[in-house]
Amino acid sequence: MRVGIVGLGYWGPNLARNFDRLPDAELRWICDASEEARARALAQLPGARPTADLDELLEDPDLDAVVIATHVPSHPVLATRVLEAGKHCFVEKPLAQSAAEAEQVADAARSAGRVLMVGHLLEYHPGVQKLKEIADSGELGDIHYIYSNRLNLGKLRADENALWSLGAHDVSVVLRLAGEEPIEARAVGESYMRDGVEDVVFCYLRFESGLAAHLHLSWLDPHKERRFTVVGSKRMATFDDMELERKVTVYDKGFDQSFQSYGEYIARSGDIWSPHVSNEEPLRIECAHFVECVRTGSEPRSGPDSGVRVVRVLEALQRSLEESSRAAAV
Ligand SMILES: NC(=O)c1ccc[n+]([C@@H]2O[C@H](COP(=O)([O-])OP(=O)(O)OC[C@H]3O[C@@H](n4cnc5c(N)ncnc54)[C@H](O)[C@@H]3O)[C@@H](O)[C@H]2O)c1
Repeated sequence: MRVGIVGLGYWGPNLARNFDRLPDAELRWICDASEEARARALAQLPGARPTADLDELLEDPDLDAVVIATHVPSHPVLATRVLEAGKHCFVEKPLAQSAAEAEQVADAARSAGRVLMVGHLLEYHPGVQKLKEIADSGELGDIHYIYSNRLNLGKLRADENALWSLGAHDVSVVLRLAGEEPIEARAVGESYMRDGVEDVVFCYLRFESGLAAHLHLSWLDPHKERRFTVVGSKRMATFDDMELERKVTVYDKGFDQSFQSYGEYIARSGDIWSPHVSNEEPLRIECAHFVECVRTGSEPRSGPDSGVRVVRVLEALQRSLEESSRAAAV
């Protein structure tokens, strides 16, 4: 499968490196409007053809797929052009900045009969897969609530806030774990570094089943945290990407009803264990999944539907953020 990539800024080179190393893929084109970015990428990928113009990729009849790693506002327009040119498309997260635009890209993929995959990287993380397996097995009982912490002193962005930049990952995982879409979204956030661009955002989602989720997203924080906590009626579990070995931990903790005194609950604190989690690079798994979906024509795990769902939730959270955290329907 012959792949071209557009966008060789901060993240694109990681995708380019992974596609280049896959045995079933050939990285044929590297495209960026910036000459400096092209030169930097070409030094690492001397076998690829550099260009500043996406049309060169779209006119190459031997090119199967285009990977888009440009800034977010450009995603819908570029992805639609790629799909309408008959190429399969991998687009970085989030698919778009509005659900309407995300749906238009999804429609373009359906009409063209081409694979569209969104880079919800965490959906390919073996630790998230393990957490999902544990939650689905019933080991935790009914899931009461989920919360995530994505904190860092990270990259300051001007064209998206911490909700859209960091939250796309957390929302994609929460939706995967929940297996349903939220009915209500609330968010509060603050801008300190740039007017109108929130550096820290707290989000709250409620689901029809009673499940609740909270996200703490910030690129202005002394801690580096990338953690999900799932609290169930029987047990609790965490996925902590900062842990080297114990990425997933299950806690046999909760409350049991005391039968000596009717109506009273007593805390139970039992075993704590960590199942094995593969340390294969999630980005490699993600890129290999795209190649496999193109080869077989199957729908990616983070395909158009997942891309649209995540944007719909982010859009509702953004609405709430703008309306002083009034609850917004999703
Ligand atoms: N999966 C992850 O963990 C992860 C991490 C970081 C960024 N990202 C995503 O990657 C994407 C890119 O982010 P970034 O930080 O690398 O941005 P960036 O601004 O550093 O790089 C974007 C590059 O795209 C180029 N570009 C933009 N429009 C172009 C066009 N029409 N034709 C050719 N080149 C064009 C720019 O010149 C720039 O070099 C975003 O969607 C972001 O959300 C994902």
